[in-house]
Amino acid sequence: MAPDTTVHNSHVCPHKFAFILDNWIRRLIQNPGKILAGYISPGDIVVDVGCGPGFFTLPLAKAVQTVYATDISNEMLNICRSRAAENNVNNIEFVQSDSINLDIDSNIVDAILLANVYHEFSSNRAILKELHRILKSSGKLFVIDWHRIEMESGPPLEHRLSDKTVIQNFEFADFSFRQAHNIYKQNYVLEFNKD
Ligand SMILES: C[S@@+](CC[C@H](N)C(=O)[O-])C[C@H]1O[C@@H](n2cnc3c(N)ncnc32)[C@H](O)[C@@H]1O
Repeated sequence: MAPDTTVHNSHVCPHKFAFILDNWIRRLIQNPGKILAGYISPGDIVVDVGCGPGFFTLPLAKAVQTVYATDISNEMLNICRSRAAENNVNNIEFVQSDSINLDIDSNIVDAILLANVYHEFSSNRAILKELHRILKSSGKLFVIDWHRIEMESGPPLEHRLSDKTVIQNFEFADFSFRQAHNIYKQNYVLEFNKD
């Protein structure tokens, strides 16, 4: 049977919670440097889907050529934009997404990051097709999301997706699962190729 690609009990994180998404405690448990080491290069074009206030976006931008920071929330994009300006980071292109279409050319992206956002997608078949369109054939896609177990932090259990479900959904959308990276305790990190 085809996997359920129109999941979820989706719940979009409101911009008033931006402060929860960017603080020193989170830097300890989900150090953004760990996802950078070894997976991206200085000449890369990277897309940070659902960038929020820019917890991953700013460190990514310091390590690559260009980051496209996308979000459905204009308020989140404005917070990310202000933080980039405060930190003199000038290589981020901000893209407001209608939750499906991205104003990014086809086959130009070296790496796509979906950090703690996939469980918020309300319908994902079209979004995954769009991510497939923009990724180079040699490109990589990383999904970071919360393990589907009860924890004190993170989204409620009913909003979480198991790593197995995420792998099924991406494989159904023509991505190939490569490996899981065991770098964060509370989150899985799944790596996919385009074909
Ligand atoms: C929990 S926050 C995570 C933000 C950031 N990636 C991080 O790890 O700190 C999820 C973000 O994804 C955005 N979002 C939700 N659905 C989206 C979609 N379909 N396309 C783009 N952004 C989306 C929300 O507005 C929110 O800013």
